[in-house]
Parts: sequence; C-alpha cells; structure tokens
Amino acid sequence: MPIHVDETHHTFHLQTDHTSYIFQELAHGVLGQVYYGRKIHVEPSYDNLLTRELKNSTPAYSLAEPDFQLDAIKQEYAATGTGDFRRPAYQVTQANGSRITDLQYDHYEVLQGKQRLKGLPSTFEDASDDVETLIVHLTDALIQLDLELSYTVFPHQDVIVRSANFKNHGVKAVTLDSALSAQLDLPDSRYEMIQFSGTWARERHLVRTPLRSGIQSIDSIRGTSSPQQNPFMMLARPETTEDTGDVFGFNLIYSGNFLDQVEVDQWATSRVLVGINPSEFSWCLAPDDEFQTPEAVLSYTASGMNQLSQQLADFYSKHLVAAKYRRMERPILVNNWEATYFDFNAEKLLKIARKAKDLGIEMFVLDDGWFGHRDDDHTSLGDWFVDPKKLPDGIGAFADQVHGLGLQFGLWFEPEMISVDSQLYQAHPDWLIHVPKRRATPGRNQFVLDFSRPEVVDYIAKLMGKVIDDTKLDYIKWDMNRYITEAYSEGLPANRQLEMPHRYILGVYQLYERLTKAYPDVLFESCASGGGRFDLGMMYYAPQAWASDDTDAVERMKIQYGTSYGYPQSMMGAHVSAVPNEQTGRMTSLETRANVAFYGAFGYELDISKLSGEEADEIRAQVEFYKRYRSLYQFGKLYRLTSPFEDDGNVMSWMVVDDDQRHAIATRYQLLSRPNAPYLRMFFKGLDPDQRYRVNNSSKTYYGDELMNAGLFVNKIFDETATEKSLADFYSQRFMIDIVD
Ligand code: DGJ
Repeated sequence: MPIHVDETHHTFHLQTDHTSYIFQELAHGVLGQVYYGRKIHVEPSYDNLLTRELKNSTPAYSLAEPDFQLDAIKQEYAATGTGDFRRPAYQVTQANGSRITDLQYDHYEVLQGKQRLKGLPSTFEDASDDVETLIVHLTDALIQLDLELSYTVFPHQDVIVRSANFKNHGVKAVTLDSALSAQLDLPDSRYEMIQFSGTWARERHLVRTPLRSGIQSIDSIRGTSSPQQNPFMMLARPETTEDTGDVFGFNLIYSGNFLDQVEVDQWATSRVLVGINPSEFSWCLAPDDEFQTPEAVLSYTASGMNQLSQQLADFYSKHLVAAKYRRMERPILVNNWEATYFDFNAEKLLKIARKAKDLGIEMFVLDDGWFGHRDDDHTSLGDWFVDPKKLPDGIGAFADQVHGLGLQFGLWFEPEMISVDSQLYQAHPDWLIHVPKRRATPGRNQFVLDFSRPEVVDYIAKLMGKVIDDTKLDYIKWDMNRYITEAYSEGLPANRQLEMPHRYILGVYQLYERLTKAYPDVLFESCASGGGRFDLGMMYYAPQAWASDDTDAVERMKIQYGTSYGYPQSMMGAHVSAVPNEQTGRMTSLETRANVAFYGAFGYELDISKLSGEEADEIRAQVEFYKRYRSLYQFGKLYRLTSPFEDDGNVMSWMVVDDDQRHAIATRYQLLSRPNAPYLRMFFKGLDPDQRYRVNNSSKTYYGDELMNAGLFVNKIFDETATEKSLADFYSQRFMIDIVD
C-alpha cells in the first residue's frame, strides 16, 4: 500500500520502495510540504519537520497568528499575493481583476491504479505494479474554483507523477495565468542543478551548476520542448556521483513550451516548479470548464545518477511507452536522407533498398522529398501526395516494390508544416500561423500549420491516412523543422490568443492519437531537426526519436551520453553515416561509427549502393552482430563508466548489462591518441560479483567483483609499429563480457 493517510492530521505519506514523499494540511487548509527523500517510517504527523520560527519582517497569515507566515512555509502548490513572495505554482485572474485566491484543502480520495489523461500523453498503470493515486481536492469558496492535485505512486520505480486540474464551478469566467504541474519545496539549497542544454546538432550536453540565491531556470518559448534546453533536470548534492549520493529527477510529459525553475529563497530553501511555461500562456476557464496540466515525473534516489537513469528508464518502459514497444526490438533501417537528399528517383532508391536487403538491413525509410514537387526545402509541405516525376508509379507501387524485397517500408512526413509554394496554401492561406496584416517569419523557408484548429488536424490526418493505407506503411518519421513564431490563431477570440501554444500541442497530440489508434502497427519515430523535441510527450506516441542531425561519431558520444541521463537508449535513433561527416567533416572508422550507434535504435544513413566490397562486408557483419545483441543494446541496463563531459573529455565509456547479469557489452571510445599514455584499466559495473566472466572470449576468467573493483588491464591500444596509425584517433574498443556456465 503506497499511500498512507493520517485522518486526524491529514498527513499524506506516499511511499515507494525506497522513498517517502510527505505533505500535510496545515492551518487554514494550506498544504505544507513535509519531506521528500529516502524512505522513512510512517507517523501520524511530523512535528519535528514542521517546526517553524517566527521570522522578522515577514507577513503573518492574520493578526492572531503571527508565526503562520506563508513566505516561510514549505508548500505543496503555492498561491501568490498573500504573503508568500516566491514564484507561485499557479495564478488566476478573476472577474474583478484580482489575482488573490484562497484554495483550501477540502477532501481527498485514493484510487487504485491510474487513469490516463484525456487529450494529453500520460502515464498508465501496469497490472503487475501496485500503483495508487491520491487526489487531493482544494476549493476557493469565494469564486468556487476547485483544484485537484493528483499524485500517482509507482512504488517499484521510485517515481511519483503529479498533475493539477482546475475546475471552475463559479458563475464567472476566470483566467489561469499559470498552472504548473508540480511544485516541490526542499528544505535547503545545497544542490547542483544538472541540465541538458545545447542547440541544433549539439543537443543535450550536460551542464552542472551549484544553486545560488535567486531564480535559476531552463525553459522554452519556441513552441517545442527544444534542443536548447531539454525538460529533464536533476538536482544532486555536490558530492553526488554516478554511483553514490542523493539526486532528484524532474521531467514533464509535454512537448511544448515548458519551465523547470528552482528558486532559492532568503532562508536557503529551494522551490522547484515544473510545468507549462507561464510565459506565452493563459487559459480562459469559463463556468464549468476545467484545465488539466500535463504530468510531471518526480523521482529520487540516494544511490547516484546512474541509478536514477535506470529507474526512470524502467518506469518509462512500463508506464509511458505503449506496451507493445516495451521490449520490441527496433528494426535496423537505412534512411536515404544523407545518401540522396532531395535528388532521387525510384531506381536510385531501389538500388539502396536492394543493397539494404543484401546487407541484412530490415527497413528502408524514404525521407524528405517524395511529395509535391519538393526538390529543395522551399516547397510542397502540406501536399502529402507523391511527386510523379520522382516516383511515376505512385507511392503505393513504390512501397510494394520495397515490401517485395522483403523489407519494411517507412516514410517521412512533416505534418505540422506548410510551404507557401503548395496547393494547401493556395486553398487555405489562413491555416498558416500568422497575425493578420503582419509579416510572418519563415524558418527553414517554411511556416507552421495552425494545429490549434481541429479542421486543420482533421485534414492532415485524412491525407496521411490515405498514404498509410496506400503504402501499408510500417514506420513514420514525423519531423518538425522550425519553431513557432507569431503564435496567433484566427480560430480563437482575442481573449484566448495566449491559449494558442498549448492548443497547438494538443492538436499535435490529437493527430498522434488518431494515427496511433487507427494504425497500431505503424512504428513512429519523432524528430525535430534532429533532437529538437526529444521529450516524454513524444515518447508516449513515438517510442523512438531521432537523437540529432549530427551523425558524427565523436559528437554523438556526447549527445547520446547526455541523453542517457533522462531517456532510455531504445528511444535514441542512432545511425552510421558516411565520412567525412556531413556536419563536422571528421573522419572516423566504420567500426567506431557503429560502436557509437549500436547503443540505440540502430540504422544507416549513407549511400550503401556505393560501398566498396570491403565496406559492404564490414556492414554486413555489423548488422549480423547487432541483430544478435540488439536486445541487450536497446533494453539492457545502461551503466555510464567515463563521462565525455569530465576531465578533458578525451575518453568516454559505457556498458549495457542484461537483466540476469549474464551478458554485458562495454565500449570505450577515445578521441585523440596520446603517446606514452598512462596504464589503463577498465572498471566495469553491474556484473554479479560472485560469478565468473570471460572478456572477449578470453581463456582466462574473472570474478565479477574483480572486473568491477580491481578492473581489467587494457593493452596499449595504440601500437607505434602499426601502419594504420590514423585509426588510433577516434578508436573504439568493445568488451564482450559473458558469464562462465
Ligand atoms: C531534419 C531531420 O532531422 C533530418 O533527419 C531529415 O529528415 C531532414 N529534416 C529532412 O528535411
């Protein structure tokens, strides 16, 4: 039973296998946050943790209660304007213009399991887990505004999922100026904020900074979760490492504008807020309307960041990704983008497809350029019918040819976009997001469709459905290549224009909902100029996401390593591409490129019809190898060994271990070769200390504890007498570790 409620004190104690999350009703229906961290015993109340001191020069709740000072109380979901000067969890403007509210605790209910949210991606229960949901009801009696705070406890993954739902039972409309998904007030600020920042082609690089007094935040107002800041954030003690120490993880199941904020106040407590970004947001709640926030994921461990990543990966696979994909090995694909860009015809593509079959690849993906008259990125978005110049027999016939080779067939769409040079624009210029009579800002020479309008979503759904039917499609790469500007909808009245960014994302989810329901066997891969919308909202519909347009093996090490903190490797689309690399010009060996891409949803992105015999043999062997170990690479427990974000970043290593600790694969990558280098030992992780293992089929065997604690001596990897010295830079080394039966 994960939820314990003390009826006398209204103490709510949510327990997972290793954590406790406690809050309690204080005076006047104010909910006070009591504790979140390592599991502690259930008590009726926690007076010790609720002790307060009278703070000078701080407003009191009333004349009679000088020491009930909201600014000095850790709260669950704080209001503004009544003495708490920290940033609030929500704000409501009422008919008289006031933003003062008084949402007081009313009652609670505990539900078995977990309902999905309507219209939003959300977590769900799994029969084998003892999931419980607590809903706490609060009411503002003056305006009859109700708030439901929902907490679902997933005990075995040490995760709590929170959201808020506002219901207007009053007679007048109110406006939600902000409505965050979760607030967490922590008693001190001795934490470091770990965020995953970057840009196009350099997504999710780890940045670790000590908290300081004041507000620090990451956010997006780009209309997508963005490559600049990922919504996943951790707070770790300064001494926390991969393997030891306290760390909290926060994420949002949402793909639009978000905010992750930490405010360190005057007494060094820390308020965490996670949710839809209040900038560029407001929502009009008419009488009887309700507003549901997206869900925030909260998780804690005392065992370091690697443990946090593993429990989150386990959680997403059981409670967020469609059950079908939980352990479904993802097909090895070849994508024609970097092979042909827009310049292709059926024969060129079929040459690649035939070669793919010959190499053992399982799926052919036709990327951008197959529709309208799209010979470059200026045209045709929205015209989702085949370009007869490129594929004269039609897209259905082409798909048949690919299927006929014994390959699966995948297709690229960018459903949310419109080109001015398109039939769609001719027919519906008002569907392009813009403010009437003002300039509309292009991005990658294209514009965004107004997905806040149901008729637009409906039109695109029908068009895509027809293509899916014609092609008996197996896979869709759903791209999104620009941010939203001039966020305005002709479908909304003036007082609802700030609803547009959220309504847009709801429209995106609506289309995903329709397509995934109608075509449950189509595998979706999300993409946004690479990893620009790599988030949990997308993961709910599309179990894999193109991690980055940067396919350079060296850059990918950082991107994939950073991504692994918050997302499982099965989500990371990772391909081998040609050298010199398109984005960096760097030369790396085919072996290293594959050794990096293996740790994800693997594929190729180069013209395989032009390979030399030697390269083809190497790729054939890679494909065969990957098929054998695919499940381990995609679903094994990931252990990070050496971070490319630490020291001089010259080395990265990590490994995957299967559930019963019988097989593991570790890989070490070095950037530049160093002369006369120090001795090198690999310290593996996650093995059974009492079992013996072979490494790379060695005749010698080692106990797991020796390999983990004493390490394995690794021979000098750069041999000065070797002729192929260039291989020494960007060299990667694989360690196959197998139990001795
Ligand atoms: C951006 C994606 O990230 C690429 O992989 C490719 O699909 C292009 N768009 C196509 O325009």
